[in-house]
Amino acid sequence: MTSSRISGFYRLSVEQRQRLLGEQLGLSGDALGALAEGGISLDVADKMIENVLGLFALPFAVGLNLQLNGKDYLVPMVVEEPSVVAAASNASRMVREGGGFRAESDDPVMISQVQLDDVPDAKAAIALVIEHKAELLERADAAVPNLVRRGGGARGLEVRDLGDGMLVVHFLIDCRDAMGANLVNTVAEAVADRLAEITRGQVGLRILSNLCDKRCVRVRCSVPSYALADNAEAGLAVRDGVVRASRFAEADPYRATTHNKGIMNGIDPVVLATGNDWRAAESGAHAFAARSGTYRPLCIWRKGDNGNLEGSMEIPLALGIVGGPARVHQGAALGLKIADVSSAQELAMLAACVGMASNLAALRALATDGIQRGHMGLHARQVAVAAGAVGDEVERVAHTIHAQGHATLDAATAALAALRARK
Ligand code: MEV
Repeated sequence: MTSSRISGFYRLSVEQRQRLLGEQLGLSGDALGALAEGGISLDVADKMIENVLGLFALPFAVGLNLQLNGKDYLVPMVVEEPSVVAAASNASRMVREGGGFRAESDDPVMISQVQLDDVPDAKAAIALVIEHKAELLERADAAVPNLVRRGGGARGLEVRDLGDGMLVVHFLIDCRDAMGANLVNTVAEAVADRLAEITRGQVGLRILSNLCDKRCVRVRCSVPSYALADNAEAGLAVRDGVVRASRFAEADPYRATTHNKGIMNGIDPVVLATGNDWRAAESGAHAFAARSGTYRPLCIWRKGDNGNLEGSMEIPLALGIVGGPARVHQGAALGLKIADVSSAQELAMLAACVGMASNLAALRALATDGIQRGHMGLHARQVAVAAGAVGDEVERVAHTIHAQGHATLDAATAALAALRARK
């Protein structure tokens, strides 16, 4: 794939988009055709979870214009909210003017927690655990031989005294291209009894921590102000407005929560489209945002020395490109193909960039026209469909009710009836 800038993509029909993308990515018609069914059959769904009644589909789209570390990406996105894909694509186009996103990633290290209770002498137990570190890490590696063969495995160990005879031991496990939950849980269960012997305590919980703060990605971008609006003066005003919006989030947890929701608007659709665990991504992101004791924005914006708008973000993200639902879900497998990443770290960096793009788009809209103008235009299309509009009626009805300023079902029904009467 040479460029993720495909002008007029949104004007094509779904079939035309599929053809164009199929050609660009060398995908067979069958691969994209699986999306018409939502990526899984009822039979597969019935094996995935319990008490299945049917399927629940969501739109699968691609985000455009994104450049990360000099490489172009088409971004697979699954989401129900109108304007998320357009907003991320739009903001990615602006970021591109400044050279695209720059990102780096930690090694994919997850934390495996073992709780120990009724430890008679916590201080002595901590010293003993550290003394047995080499043996314990060997036991951890022995529990996940395939991971060790793939270059991952135990990287370290930490012990904390939680008071009242409770200790927690963290095993730091490099999960390579897996999200790692199963691997890390396996390790916790394999080492727990030996830990109890060493500490003379009782085994408690043995499970991963979703606060995967050893597995962070850091993203930056520098956007020239002219790229933020139609003219240079307006661009400066947008830049300053985004910085003010960032400062508001830095000063107020109520605003920071919504600010971070806007970031997750970009991240969750990528997590979902690639078959990853979005609850894990959400819990990790919000716990990390609150790590100082005050809930803070994950992405902040400043005016740079050269007058550009500069964004920086750090976020923990445990995403995998092997194992997981992509083995049985054709939509998730296709999402991974479209993302065209060669490691879990690259996927995490990509998802984080989409999060930053979504945040920029939201702050830019909030600092200028307000969010409703853009939202209502797209919302009008959903209302038009709900009123029964089909084909080109959807755009026409949406346009009418948007122009009238009330995108209600009644207005759409009336506009549709008027349109059909004129035909
Ligand atoms: C809506 O889904 C997301 C926003 O509320 C984010 C924000 O306020 O920054 C627009």
